[in-house]
Amino acid sequence: MTRIILFLLLIIIVAIQFFQPEKNENGGRKSPDEITGLYTIPANVQTILKQACYDCHSNNTRYPWYAGIQPVGWLMAAHIREGKKELNFDEYGAYSSKRQRNKMKRMKEQVTAGKMPLSSYTLIHADARLTTGQKELIANWIDSTLELHTGDH
Ligand code: HEC
Repeated sequence: MTRIILFLLLIIIVAIQFFQPEKNENGGRKSPDEITGLYTIPANVQTILKQACYDCHSNNTRYPWYAGIQPVGWLMAAHIREGKKELNFDEYGAYSSKRQRNKMKRMKEQVTAGKMPLSSYTLIHADARLTTGQKELIANWIDSTLELHTGDH
């Protein structure tokens, strides 16, 4: 009985490998609505965002090798889909200015509270773990950007 169950499990594990989720990749193409076209982002802040946020909040994910293993890849795809729906740095310029400001505030909240990047992500991506200094850099950049853009409607 145990053998049959193990055998069936093996079959299932092999079978699900044939269902690879579509990858979130744009081949490095530049989007006209990138956040960089809207705000000035200092290089050190940009580096942090790229390293810690872009995998789930842009149109281009850097995939690790194990993304090809299911169900790992499916879980990643779900995070990316949800993450992009909430915040996409490649489509930021297309948001209403109210939404743009709101997302900036949310970013500061999430980063300061340590809720972003997701802990399931920083568990593996050590380079995405933010130090207090890096969190402050992001918070300060958001404060000065919001101050500069208060007049927008
Ligand atoms: C592993 C994927 C992943 C990474 C990396 C990640 N996020 Fe997220 N993010 C999500 C998901 C999924 C959601 C939506 C569900 C939730 O809020 O937990 C989200 C939601 C958010 C929201 C909420 C938007 C709103 O309006 O409520 C903000 C802001 C955000 N992320 C900012 C960031 C920032 C800034 C970083 C980098 C420092 C980052 N995220 C890194 C997956 C990720």
